[in-house]
Amino acid sequence: MKNEPSIQVAATSPLTRRDFLKFSMLMAGVLALPRSYAGRIAQALAAATRLPVVWLEFQDCTGDSESLLRANQRVDPIQPGVTDPGVTDLLLDFISLEYHETLMASSGANSEKSLADVMQTYPGEYVVVVEGSIPSALNGAYCAIRGRSALSIVREVCAGARAVIGAGSCAFDGGLAAAAPNPTGATGVRGAVPGLTNLVNLPGCPVNVVNLVAVIVHLITFGEMPACDSLGRPYFAYGEDIHEECERHNHYEAERFALAWGDEGHRRGWCLYRLGCKGPATHNNCSRVLWNDGVCWPVRAGHGCAGCSEPHFWDNLTPLYSPLPDDDAAIANP
Ligand code: SF4
Ligand code: F3S
Repeated sequence: MKNEPSIQVAATSPLTRRDFLKFSMLMAGVLALPRSYAGRIAQALAAATRLPVVWLEFQDCTGDSESLLRANQRVDPIQPGVTDPGVTDLLLDFISLEYHETLMASSGANSEKSLADVMQTYPGEYVVVVEGSIPSALNGAYCAIRGRSALSIVREVCAGARAVIGAGSCAFDGGLAAAAPNPTGATGVRGAVPGLTNLVNLPGCPVNVVNLVAVIVHLITFGEMPACDSLGRPYFAYGEDIHEECERHNHYEAERFALAWGDEGHRRGWCLYRLGCKGPATHNNCSRVLWNDGVCWPVRAGHGCAGCSEPHFWDNLTPLYSPLPDDDAAIANP
C-alpha cells in the first residue's frame, strides 16, 4: 500500500499490523468513505484508549449477541491452521466490554456492582449498546433484572452515556414483541428514553455486526456518531435501497420472476418479488456488506428480503410470503 500511515499495534494485541490496515480499509468502505480515509481510521484506532462499552439486554431472543459472537475469528477452510480475525476480534482490540449479562462471568450482586462501577468511573464516556425491546406496560413490570425494571435501568444507564446504540429491530421499535396486540407495551430505546440526542439505531433481525462496529469506529475516528435519517438510522447503512442494489434487479426489470419455491425461475436466480420479497420497501446495505463474514445475504441464499430493518415490519410487511400490495410500494428515504 502506498503512503502507509505509521501504525503501532499494541504489543499485547494478537492482531498484526496487516490485520489492522485491512480492517481500516473495510471500515472506510462500509462507512461509504473514500479509501484514503483508511489511514486516518487506522491511526485513530491505534492511538485511542479502549472505549468502555456496556451491553444491556432486555426482552429479546439474544440474536444480536449471537450476531456479535458469530463474527469472531474464522478458520480458512482451504488452508487448515490459517485463521483470520473477524470484526468482533478487531472490535475487542479497541473497546473494553465492561458489562454484558449474557457473556460476563459474574452474576447477581457482583454484576450489578460492575454496572454501577462503569457508570461511576466513566461518566459521559461509556457507550451503551441496547439489545431487545423495553416493555412499558404496567410501569415496566414485564421485564425486570434483580428487581429493577428494564425501563428504569435503560433510562439511568443511557442518561450518563456518551453515545447509545440500539442494536437490532427490538431496540429500534420493539420488534417482534411489539407486534399487535403488543401485550407488554414493548418499545425501543427511543420510546423508552425520549429526547436522546446521542442515539443511533441499527434495526435488523438481527443487527449486522459490521454496521455496529462501523458506528463505533466512526465515533472513535471522528469524535461523533454518523449522520442519521429521521428514524435514527445511519445513512451509510440505511441510505441504500435493497431493491436497487439487488443482484436480481435486472430480472425484476425484465419481469423474470420466480413464482414457486424450486421452480425454474427460482433455480435460475430470478427475482423473488412474487414470492414475497420486501426489498422494494426496505433500506439496508445487506447486499453490499453481506453476512457471515461477507459470504451471503438473504436474497443470494434464495429467500426474499423480509424487510427486517423497516419500522414495525412484523405488522406492516407481513405476511412474509405475500407480495407487496402493488409495484409502487417502495417507501421513500425518511
Ligand atoms: Fe431483489 Fe427482491 Fe427487488 Fe427482486 S424484489 S430485485 S429479489 S430486492
Ligand atoms: Fe433484513 Fe432484508 Fe437484509 S430481511 S437482513 S433487510 S435482506
